[in-house]
Amino acid sequence: MSPRPNKFYEPGAERASKVNDLFATIAPRYDLINDLQSFGLHRWWKRRLIRWAAPQAGDAALDLCCGTGDVAFRLASHGVHVTGLDFSQAMLEVAARRAASEVAGRGLLFQQGDALRTGLADNAYDIVTISYGLRNLADWKQGLREMWRVAKPGGRVLVLDFGKPDALWWRGLYFAYLKNWVPRFGRWFFRDADTHGYIYESLLNYPAQRGVEAEMSAMGFQDVRVVNILGGIMGINVGRKPAALVAQTA
Ligand SMILES: C[S@@+](CC[C@H](N)C(=O)[O-])C[C@H]1O[C@@H](n2cnc3c(N)ncnc32)[C@H](O)[C@@H]1O
Repeated sequence: MSPRPNKFYEPGAERASKVNDLFATIAPRYDLINDLQSFGLHRWWKRRLIRWAAPQAGDAALDLCCGTGDVAFRLASHGVHVTGLDFSQAMLEVAARRAASEVAGRGLLFQQGDALRTGLADNAYDIVTISYGLRNLADWKQGLREMWRVAKPGGRVLVLDFGKPDALWWRGLYFAYLKNWVPRFGRWFFRDADTHGYIYESLLNYPAQRGVEAEMSAMGFQDVRVVNILGGIMGINVGRKPAALVAQTA
């Protein structure tokens, strides 16, 4: 008997609207549950993402799938001009409330839009980040292409997401946690295990840090690397758009 499908994971044309439904449901409790399910560690993982982004005051940054704004606020606290983009009205409303109360909210712009076609200018950002977002896109490769397009030549592109540990015993333990324990947060807070069962389901269908690394290299990013956190349960992919694209000669 095949397992019951997760109602928020729908490959194909319905993917985006299901993901939007998911975040509309969980937005009011998103930050709290992040702290609970990661034992507060997601704050540390995001700090590491920011360190790898190496923000300089005056840089322009784009944070795709910004959600409630965690990464955007951190970038802004370094004096960076940040645009946070997300398609979920509910998540952006939480981000806007936080921006009104956080010092780092000043100079930060939140915008509603689709990470797959942002409509933003080519070659515009020194830093382009996506944190726990690429896995949710209907076409993650297209997401990377959009990040490349909007990054300035020489700009840094970074992806943070759930990973797939190389060590199979560790992957097994971690996947058991995601599959059997994390859905309880959905049941407790929303009476719906699928809201958080979605994490495991979407990760199974995502190539994680190794696949993203291979794709970034194939696309021509430079200085491509993977930062594995806690044995790879989380992964940060880092790459740089070449400063000068050399014309190919036959
Ligand atoms: C797991 S949350 C991550 C939020 C935040 N970046 C963080 O690290 O806490 C994923 C976010 O991606 C957004 N998202 C998913 N698909 C999107 C798309 N195609 N365009 C824009 N936002 C999208 C969702 O609305 C949600 O806010």
